[in-house]
Amino acid sequence: MTDFLETAQKVAREAGAVITEFAGRNIGFELKGAYDLVTAADRASEQLIVDRLNSAYPSHAIVAEESGMHAGSSEYRWYVDPLDGTTNFAHAFPVYNVTLALEHAGRIIAGVVYDPTRDEMFAAERGAGAFLNGRRIQVSKTARLEDSLAATGFPSRKRHQNINIHFYYQLAMLSHGVRRPGAAAIDLAYVACGRLDLFWEFGLNPWDMAAGSLLVEEAGGKVTDMHGAPLDLRGPHVLTDNGSLHEETIALFEKIFAGQLPVPLPELPA
Ligand code: IPD
Ligand code: CA
Ligand code: CA
Repeated sequence: MTDFLETAQKVAREAGAVITEFAGRNIGFELKGAYDLVTAADRASEQLIVDRLNSAYPSHAIVAEESGMHAGSSEYRWYVDPLDGTTNFAHAFPVYNVTLALEHAGRIIAGVVYDPTRDEMFAAERGAGAFLNGRRIQVSKTARLEDSLAATGFPSRKRHQNINIHFYYQLAMLSHGVRRPGAAAIDLAYVACGRLDLFWEFGLNPWDMAAGSLLVEEAGGKVTDMHGAPLDLRGPHVLTDNGSLHEETIALFEKIFAGQLPVPLPELPA
């Protein structure tokens, strides 16, 4: 394990402890946008992470959700989501995490997703595999959508413009079901370890996906956009799956994008 991954795990664990201190204290929330929440726990976690990364790697840049860009003088850049799943956290719904990833010259090279509610540390380094609490993980072997468990999410910004409900309904009818856990980095980590077979979402930010997408790749899965093109962390959507489901999912998504819905919505009572 490199020093980078070791530091990322240490910092994520420490930030997880900060979040846990706030949990159950009814700390309330503020709104960043109409439905976009932020809490004191997001800010305290981010402050700790930025301080720790700055002192460990003074030349590295940091892009953090709450405080934005902290410029650096090297080719290294950290993506930081100090609390992924803030809406869950603010409602005491115990699905949230801390996630950090390191990019070098435009490529994610290391990433962690730490779930303090289960003490689960997902960690990956490019070319060295993906791990959950030190044990190697792999994507599932599910070969057909009709046997799969999927997950998705819905953005809090401009949510009335989001077309995901169409994808949600088709997948829900054509698989074992679609979960909406509310923390994208956990969704990605769960694809990596086989608890989910696929995950897609519109409108995520780089800090939501950077570590999780590396976890999926290193666990043997596939990471693209919803048309099957290479993932752009700043792009409009993401699809990750175990690889075996990729072609079938892309074919279905192309139909949905074209307005050809295999399963019609049921009629409402007259
Ligand atoms: C959100 C979560 C959620 C996803 C949203 C994200 P945040 O991140 O990952 O699952 O659906 O699009 O913004 O705001 O809780 O860090
Ligand atoms: Ca997030
Ligand atoms: Ca966040």
